[in-house]
Amino acid sequence: MQRLDKYLTNNTSLTRSEAVKAIKLGRVMVNYRIIKNNDYKLDENLSKVFLDGSFVKYNKFIYLMMNKPSGIVSATGDKKEKTVVDILPKEYSKKDVFPCGRLDKDTVGLLILTNDGVNAHRLLAPKNNISKTYEFICAEPMSDDDITTIETGVKLKDGYITKHCIIERESKKSGKITIFEGKYHEIKRIFGAIGNKITFLKRISFGEIHLDNSLNYGEFRELNDVEKEYFTGNNVDNKQ
Ligand code: URA
Repeated sequence: MQRLDKYLTNNTSLTRSEAVKAIKLGRVMVNYRIIKNNDYKLDENLSKVFLDGSFVKYNKFIYLMMNKPSGIVSATGDKKEKTVVDILPKEYSKKDVFPCGRLDKDTVGLLILTNDGVNAHRLLAPKNNISKTYEFICAEPMSDDDITTIETGVKLKDGYITKHCIIERESKKSGKITIFEGKYHEIKRIFGAIGNKITFLKRISFGEIHLDNSLNYGEFRELNDVEKEYFTGNNVDNKQ
């Protein structure tokens, strides 16, 4: 059961106060009856809600893709820094959206934000080896040996040996790297381990979800149906 104003906030672009106003003005129907009481409780799985005569579909979860800009931290809240949730419109921050995985403050590109904790954690679980592809630029030219060393696995300062990864070189100092794990600062530490330095990093894919090139830095959109199916593991219970 859910309050009507909360249902509208979660499933339309209305903020809570706009939803309350719309209800008071008689713009909202539940099961073909106008309801003017904003704390009216409805069964989100069974009730049919209309706003201004248009059906309001029940979206159990929110799934967004953001082209993360530099200078913003991948967190839900931070005392000092601006977060990826802070730069979303207000209506999303109220829906417990969080970033699925982390990008460093200066890393840009694909970040998925959701309030579907179960599937986010499933995809992030190390045993799932989800691929993550990044465009990179490094400070020093890469030799063929450097590439083989990185692809095979390097020993990081803390002794951890990285798993197999793939590099597609585009120039001596740039290319794409695909990793199948997600250790803290992993790519920067891999390049550091061979005496090089990452100067630019942009995630362009997460598993089968690819960054939408039409999104400028800081922009976002909802995942489309195919992307959502991938994210939710095609689980019918989670389908919207
Ligand atoms: N590896 C890094 O070093 N930083 C990121 O933000 C992502 C992967």
